Parts: sequence; structure tokens; C-alpha cells
Amino acid sequence: MILVTGGLGYIGSHTVVELLENDFEVLIVDDLSNSSISVLDSINSIVKKNILFEQINLCNKKDLSLIFQKYPNINGVIHFAAHKSVRESISKPIDYYYNNLTSILNILEEIMIKSEFCPLIFSSSCTVYGRANAFPISEDEPIKLPESPYGNTKKVAEEILHDVSLTNKNFNVISLRYFNPIGAHSSLKIGELPLGEPQNLIPIITKTGIGSIEKLIVNGSDYNTPDGSCIRDYIHITDLSKAHVIALKKLLSKDSSKSFEVYNLGTGKGTSVFEIIKLFESVSGLKLNYEIGSRREGDVPISYANPAKAERELGWKANLSLKEGLSSAWDWEKRINNL
Ligand code: WQD
Repeated sequence: MILVTGGLGYIGSHTVVELLENDFEVLIVDDLSNSSISVLDSINSIVKKNILFEQINLCNKKDLSLIFQKYPNINGVIHFAAHKSVRESISKPIDYYYNNLTSILNILEEIMIKSEFCPLIFSSSCTVYGRANAFPISEDEPIKLPESPYGNTKKVAEEILHDVSLTNKNFNVISLRYFNPIGAHSSLKIGELPLGEPQNLIPIITKTGIGSIEKLIVNGSDYNTPDGSCIRDYIHITDLSKAHVIALKKLLSKDSSKSFEVYNLGTGKGTSVFEIIKLFESVSGLKLNYEIGSRREGDVPISYANPAKAERELGWKANLSLKEGLSSAWDWEKRINNL
């Protein structure tokens, strides 16, 4: 049984679908602080299988311990659950360090009690690279102090996981550093559901497209990039979720030579904000309402992955195009607004 924490969130729900389609037994734990219980029914409507669900907060050690006692056959963990807003983390650092680190420490304590092999996949982020020196960004890019408390919780959690994996032969870790996930499942039954004000570019663009946001503010056009706007590596959520299943199978097969391994998950291609706007206009047939604003605190000018290591060692690479990602994001936005 695979424990998926935060399994009703954006990346978590798409990964649960891939796990079920690969005949894994799945237990989702989620505190519903940034997700909706309706996602469970949506997953069930895609993959007609029973999914076990428990609503708990991973910072509650007693509740988590009861879960591991109730489900002794947990033999793998994919840990998504975390607070994840860069901007919010800057204003609430204590909340972010407490939540994101207490949850991983509590999970580790439960795994360490188990006698049999129980590997873990960690949901990390390209944010750990901060302002990288070289592009595309490889896993051996020096880790700098990330630009936000959120990014630092990912860096510190990786360090904790690395150290703990060295102490226990029954515990191996793969940390997946996501670049920018976008889009929705092909069924349009699950997708990105930002509760409250969206923070990321693509949902803000699609909400501007349907009119629920008046206009997109481009956060700066004076960067040292070809068109002055920031460059990112936008990867389709389906490609990203498939990588988790491949990584989990590698861990469970115990053919991992190292107890702790890191992989960048991106397409290897960088796209600027203005290029995204242009592509969205061609996909949607709309003229997007936007204006140029000031730079956003914490933004790095350029970030895109070198995905060669994941291709070489996992046999994974992104297959879906940016256009497919944007189209599915737009179709999803129209779907959840009954348009
Ligand atoms: C992309 C670009 C913005 C909104 C974040 C997290 C990272 C990872 C991916 C979790 C930037 C610009 C955005 C807007 C804009 N998440 N933008 N106007 O910041 O690259 O990465 O999501 O792991 O950890 O930091 O993504 O979508 O917020 O921004 O111009 O209204 O779009 O400035 O250049 P980001 P994003």
C-alpha cells in the first residue's frame, strides 16, 4: 500500500490516478487545508477503484501514528503535503517551517519504527536552486539559499531525508525537483484548483481569460532575457505525475545504488511570460487583457531544467507539449466554470 500525503492536491491527485492505473493500492491522507474532498470522487470517477482516505494533519503525531497502526501494510510513501505559496511563506515563515518540517519529521519517525523496507518519494522544487549560475539547471547545480522560506523548507527537508536515509538500510529516498507544473488530466475531471487567490501564472491567465480576474499583471519586463520577461520550464502535470510512479517502482525494485537521489523534472525548454501569453491567445482565440507591472519579490529571471539524469536513470522524459498543457489548463478552467 502506498501512502500519499496531500493526495487530494493538484500534483497529488494526478499522481494517485497514475498509481491506481498501475495497480498500486493507495491510501490518501490530506487535511483538506488546501484541497477539496470532491477531488476524491473525481479520482474515483476516472479510475473506478476504491481509494482509502483519512483526513488528518501530519503535524498531529498521535493521529499519524494511529494511521500507521491501522494500515501496517504501508510499504511506500509519496509525500506531497506541504504549504506551498512562495509569497505566503515570506509573510508567515514560522508557519511554513513548522508545518513543512514537522510533517516530514513525524512521517520519518513512523517509517523508522517499521521493520520492513519502506521507501519515500519527496515532492521538492526547483526553488532550491535559487538563482542558478548555469542553464539548463542540472542536479549538481550548487544549492544556494532559496529565495523564500517555502523554498528553504524544501532544501532543509531534503537534507533531513538524506541524513536519515544513511542510517537505515530499509529506507531509500528519491527527491523530485519540479519545475513549473501546468495543465489538467485528459478527462478534465481533475486539474489545478487554487483555493482562494491563485498565485501561479497559468491559473491567473486562464482566470483572466474567463473574466474572473480583470487582467494579468506581468511581473516585470526588464529582466536580462530575450524579451525582458522571466523564463520558466512549464511541464504538463501528466508527465510530472507519471515520473512519480516510475521513481516509486525504481525504489521498490531496490535497484537504487544510493540511499538518497535527486531528479529534476522539467521539459528542458525555457519559455518566457510573453511567449506564454502569445501561446495562450492562439490556443484560446482570445486577446488576453494584461499590463506590465513591477518585478515580484523572490522571482529568479531564468529557470529551466536539464532533464537528462531522469531520462538516463529513470527512463522518464516529458512527452506532452506546452501547447497541450496550456490547452488542457484552458479547457479545465472553462469546465469548472461551466463554460
Ligand atoms: C511564473 C512566472 C512570475 C503570476 C512557483 C514556485 C515553485 C513551483 C512552481 C512549487 C514568474 C510570472 C506570475 C502573475 C506574472 N511551485 N507571473 N504574473 O514563481 O516560477 O514557481 O511555482 O514547487 O516553487 O515558486 O511560478 O507561476 O508563480 O510564476 O508575471 O500574475 O510568471 O513573475 O516569472 P514560479 P509562477
